[in-house]
Amino acid sequence: MAAVDRYLKTEIEARALAFILAQGWIETIGRGSARSASLAAAAGLTPAGAALLFGILAAGGVIAEEDGNIVFTPAFIDALRYRDLLEAKLWFANFVASDVHDLFGTLLTDMPHFMRRAKVFELFRYDLAMAVTPDNLTATARWVGYTTVLTRYEAGAGLDRLELGGRRHMLDVGGNSGEFARQAVERQPGLTAEVFDLPVVCELGRRHLAATKQKASVRFTPGDLRQQPLPQGADVISFKSMLHDWPDHHAREFLQKAWDALPPNGLLVIYERAEIAIGAAPLPYSMVANLVFLPFFRPAALYMQWLAEFGFEGIAAQEFTLEMSFQVIIARKPA
Ligand SMILES: C[S@@+](CC[C@H](N)C(=O)[O-])C[C@H]1O[C@@H](n2cnc3c(N)ncnc32)[C@H](O)[C@@H]1O
Repeated sequence: MAAVDRYLKTEIEARALAFILAQGWIETIGRGSARSASLAAAAGLTPAGAALLFGILAAGGVIAEEDGNIVFTPAFIDALRYRDLLEAKLWFANFVASDVHDLFGTLLTDMPHFMRRAKVFELFRYDLAMAVTPDNLTATARWVGYTTVLTRYEAGAGLDRLELGGRRHMLDVGGNSGEFARQAVERQPGLTAEVFDLPVVCELGRRHLAATKQKASVRFTPGDLRQQPLPQGADVISFKSMLHDWPDHHAREFLQKAWDALPPNGLLVIYERAEIAIGAAPLPYSMVANLVFLPFFRPAALYMQWLAEFGFEGIAAQEFTLEMSFQVIIARKPA
């Protein structure tokens, strides 16, 4: 993640990078070089625009220029191994930036008002994920593509902290396109998985997994957790980046449903971003992606308190850093 985030430190760098991606320069320059004059002409840059763009990209460590030839730096070529993540992060940050610009005071003072006005909540339209129609598939695919790429890179750090040996079946609640479940069964022989999510999301998930080796080991169960219990049969139930979407009473109700569905000795896993904490360094531009969810992230201690109230045992939390602090909380239903 760090390999990518270093190119999203400031908005201007991110805009410059998004511009050259849209112009197809990744392909044009590739691992070789291209004439700066031809790139500028093809993109319709003014002389001042070209000087600014090349200057920003050089200062940001994306390109180097020699005798009118543009090359990518070795570090940027390395970062292009994660091009899907770079593009997803650029797209989402540039999409939500206007919410943070225009509504910063509202974000700090009046979250319900922020949620009514911010574009980001027009994107995550769970109400459009209920009926499988061509329009709903298109609308839902916009954000499922983003969450899928994030999970592709977040899953490993969470799974590293889980002991799944001996477990048979994992239920990933709000498991989206199945990427977390796919990586779980990929690394744990004998484990099968089930994704419980809204119907349109499950349909997109089936398509996402269709070409993977884990396709047969991950099944999708469409449903709405507000309206129904969780399916029985899993000895691990996980909630990855799911509970923060919901106010406390819903989050607790969902955890109650997990308690009801788990057998004795069943494992409960919560994998979430931690509360946003500002350290000594200023926040980078890339953090606009998380700032729009500012009050949603809960401390591990609160989840742990709830789990203890349900009667879970062996409750433990681990915190670690990706682009910000994350936490994995585990708990076991008594034997
Ligand atoms: C923020 S996304 C997280 C997705 C994924 N677990 C990840 O880590 O990227 C929340 C997920 O919960 C699902 N979800 C929202 N409301 C739900 C409901 N009422 N019942 C089941 N799933 C729901 C969404 O469709 C979405 O896939």
